[in-house]
Amino acid sequence: MSATQRRVRAAVLHGVGEPLGVEEIELAETGPHQVRVRLAASGVCHSDLSVQQGRLPFMFPTVLGHEGAGVVEEVGSAVTRVSPGDHVVLGWNPPCRRCFYCLAGQPMLCDIGLAEALGSPYGTAAGVPLIRGLGVGAFAEATLVPEGSAVPVDPKVPLEQVALVGCALATGVGAVANIARVTLGSSVVVVGCGGVGLCVVQGARLAGASQVIAVDRVAAKLALAESMGATASVDSSAGDALDQVRALTEGRGADFSFEVVGRPETIRLAYSAARRGGTTVVVGAGSDADVVPFNAMELFADAKALFGCVYGSTDPDRDFPMLVDLVARGDLDASSLVTRRIGLDDVNEAFVAMEAGEVVRSLIVFGGH
Ligand code: APR
Ligand code: ZN
Repeated sequence: MSATQRRVRAAVLHGVGEPLGVEEIELAETGPHQVRVRLAASGVCHSDLSVQQGRLPFMFPTVLGHEGAGVVEEVGSAVTRVSPGDHVVLGWNPPCRRCFYCLAGQPMLCDIGLAEALGSPYGTAAGVPLIRGLGVGAFAEATLVPEGSAVPVDPKVPLEQVALVGCALATGVGAVANIARVTLGSSVVVVGCGGVGLCVVQGARLAGASQVIAVDRVAAKLALAESMGATASVDSSAGDALDQVRALTEGRGADFSFEVVGRPETIRLAYSAARRGGTTVVVGAGSDADVVPFNAMELFADAKALFGCVYGSTDPDRDFPMLVDLVARGDLDASSLVTRRIGLDDVNEAFVAMEAGEVVRSLIVFGGH
């Protein structure tokens, strides 16, 4: 394939705290097990901002963006799972299907696939090798990924609607379905109702929870949560959130609680907001510098299950097509998660807006599809 098609515009991050610079990069030639994808749309997720701010350690220079969908442009000589023209959702953790974790049925913990996604040939900016950001590099007109990162989906569903499947929907709905296994008629608390948290709310509603309590400190997020199935809202900026949750759950706390922020105080809140014998799932990606306090008595006596949850415990090949189907049928609302449609050049403003709580998701929309 010509070098011209491999030269694309991309938002490059050169170091922690720097703004992203939209530059021309050159993607490497497509290797035997790689796929080049022309992006249609990419969501701006909090994890991208966390890398830019240094809360999530990463390597530079890099092209961020890990929540995208597009069309396969070229496949490597050994690739059989997709062909040019196929619609794909990009995943950031392609399972190798051979390692201990994959064989144990936990492909989301596959470190061989992630190492390949981070380390295999990708591209250069002004001759300098780039790291494929968070294994995907979706803030670009096109990206080059390991074949397992490109998951084919139903081409009848608009790509803009399925872009968020690769992170927000997979992580949020997956946490409900694969880890907590929320049951019919149960009560659920969701601490943090951003892009991922609102997907937890939607997943809990789909799972048949009778009570879904949304907790956030931004009124607009709570209003959106209610429109997506939350039955009550708790504004954590107005009074003690735990008291408010307990008042809504007969003093006990909820059967299931989800933390979808990634901060010690919200993890602690989610744990406290689960009832004795209940389940808490930590969905948010926190920092290894943060410590969460638990006392030894409560861990034993309250008999709660506390789960970590990587990527919604998702198997992309199994779950992405199912999530796309739920979007197509209107059971999951991906469109309402998008507050703004923007261009690639607006990505820095999208970070500012996300931090200010002004948006749920900004969606970078690329022309040409
Ligand atoms: N109390 C309540 N809500 C809070 C608090 C707090 N102390 N701090 C932040 N929030 C809310 C924000 O108002 C926002 O609505 O948490 C939400 C976080 O949402 P986003 O910034 O949209 O982040 P999102 O993309 O949903 O990711 C959430 O999941 O995948 C991980 O790395 C990601 O850790 C991040 C988390
Ligand atoms: Zn994400």
